[in-house]
Amino acid sequence: MTTAPKIDLQRVNDVLGRYPKSDARALVNILHDIQAEFRYLPEAALKETASHLGISEAQVYGVVTFYEGFHLEPRGEHVCTVCMGTACHVRGAPRLLEQAERDLEIKSGNTTSDLSFTLEHVNCVGACALGPLVILDGEYHGHVSPDKLSRKLRKLKKKKGSK
Ligand code: FES
Repeated sequence: MTTAPKIDLQRVNDVLGRYPKSDARALVNILHDIQAEFRYLPEAALKETASHLGISEAQVYGVVTFYEGFHLEPRGEHVCTVCMGTACHVRGAPRLLEQAERDLEIKSGNTTSDLSFTLEHVNCVGACALGPLVILDGEYHGHVSPDKLSRKLRKLKKKKGSK
């Protein structure tokens, strides 16, 4: 688990200000906007959201946990997702995941302490012909070898370092 960074509540209030008070129908849109702002849904932001909409925090969490796309833990600036579905698995996905775990020094399902990378794996994203498949920041990379993945990760690390 990554320690949650302190968040700027003004950024939350800027999002909430775009939605009318006490209209619970806006909840999902607000959650999407907050996640776009912070890359995850900080606890303090969910509290503010509940109070803005006049609903309970339990209702907010109910929606957050219902949808797979919402994240309650901080996420990295870059997200590396290795497909571990059957087709990718037989074409070497486990070696890709091991390589990424070594390169990023985290286990799958975790985020680096500097919040630069999140590593995760999924079961089939429906692009089996491209297997083994890695998704880097939303971009699909098919027929990836461990070396190729390492190079891509190094490139992203460098990019970050040069900022
Ligand atoms: S098993 Fe990887 S995309 Fe289907």
